[in-house]
Amino acid sequence: MSKKLLLVLLLIVSVVGFVFAQDATEEPMMEMACPEGEATVTVAAGAVGIELELAQEAAQRYMEMCPNITVEVLETPDLATDRLGLYLQFLEAESPDVDVYQIDVIWPGILAEHMIDLTPYVSEEVLASHFPAIVQNNTVDGQLVGIPWFTDAGLLYYRSDLLEKYSLEVPTTWDELEAAAQAIQDGERAEGNEEFWGFVWQGNAYEGLTCDALEWQVSHGGGTIVSPEGEIQVNNPEFVAALERAAGWVGTISPEGVTGYGEEDARAVFQAGNAAFMRNWPYAYSLGNAEDSVIAGNIGVSPLPGTENGPNAATLGGWQLSVSRYSESPDAAASVALFLASAPEQKIRAIEASYNPTIMSLYEDPEVLEAVPFFGSLFDVFTSAVARPSTVTAERYNDVSVLYFTAVHSVLTGEQDAQTAVEDLEIDLLDLLGEGFTVPGE
Ligand code: GLC
Repeated sequence: MSKKLLLVLLLIVSVVGFVFAQDATEEPMMEMACPEGEATVTVAAGAVGIELELAQEAAQRYMEMCPNITVEVLETPDLATDRLGLYLQFLEAESPDVDVYQIDVIWPGILAEHMIDLTPYVSEEVLASHFPAIVQNNTVDGQLVGIPWFTDAGLLYYRSDLLEKYSLEVPTTWDELEAAAQAIQDGERAEGNEEFWGFVWQGNAYEGLTCDALEWQVSHGGGTIVSPEGEIQVNNPEFVAALERAAGWVGTISPEGVTGYGEEDARAVFQAGNAAFMRNWPYAYSLGNAEDSVIAGNIGVSPLPGTENGPNAATLGGWQLSVSRYSESPDAAASVALFLASAPEQKIRAIEASYNPTIMSLYEDPEVLEAVPFFGSLFDVFTSAVARPSTVTAERYNDVSVLYFTAVHSVLTGEQDAQTAVEDLEIDLLDLLGEGFTVPGE
């Protein structure tokens, strides 16, 4: 063999080696050893959209890999607040009936005491492949209480065909959104669709409203609910203006019934072709473009609007998988949780149902980007999303959120004016949180 040929061969071998090594560090391959013995692992999972079906398919794949383990998927309520209530019933009773819980990004502080530390089960390589901020969010007193499964951020959905029909641009401010929503609503109704609305969102009194209202608050320059330093920032003119604006949507560009809407209610109206704009999470994209959707191919996705006082804001959401302390098969449960959250499984969920991976390298995966182009174009929205104050308020976060969404809801329904609502909310939050928490100017 000539020296030249040998050099070329060597080069090829090292390039191929390098490429494989890259792949291995970016997306750790599954080296899953099946747990020993027989066990049944019950996973409490969401059923929003096609979530349940996806979890069942994944459970099937796990059982094919490890036939000694039976994985059962338990359906849980759609509204996050109701789901937490159900989980607490199981956990406070120390029930072994559920092994793995799908937990919200805001719940590690609330549920940590009931969950095992997953650190011994996760390799450093796998842990390093997830967004560090989520891993940190899920780490309570040094214990990893949940492996990240998918992340979420609030988005603005619009009907691209209707914007074109009415010669409108994608709105970047709330004023523009209101004007466009009204114009399209007037036009579509004049053409005979009496059920058409400008803008649908989550207005029911539950966790989803906390997410929507936090986006209004931040984008109006009204601070945040509670800052990471413990400052309660709800009593200010900008947040009052944001709430007055949202209350003004009810019955004008949004249906009266929006004050009872969760994610799926908003999606039902939008996907039936009866709304111009929708605030929702990424999962709505795949479903809206599915074969049975009348608006398939006519959906645009952009960042939510802002104002001259504040930048656009998306609330950070997302879900983790945790293993209960009361599980009778914690090893098998951890194995199932890690499998579900693994790169190949996150990739399937991203492609089939637009669930945002928590594994960073999947945002560069061509198949993922082809299925959900905005995972690339709106990457910044996902990485700069605004967190709810669940770290600083820890186990009291749910009480904080209940006070917040109840106050917001009372303004939306006209029970209270915005000014009174934020003043009372400030007092209630200070009462609840007490020492270590402040209000501006103190
Ligand atoms: C989504 C988010 C979650 C949030 C919930 C509110 O599921 O991922 O974080 O709490 O919506 O409805």
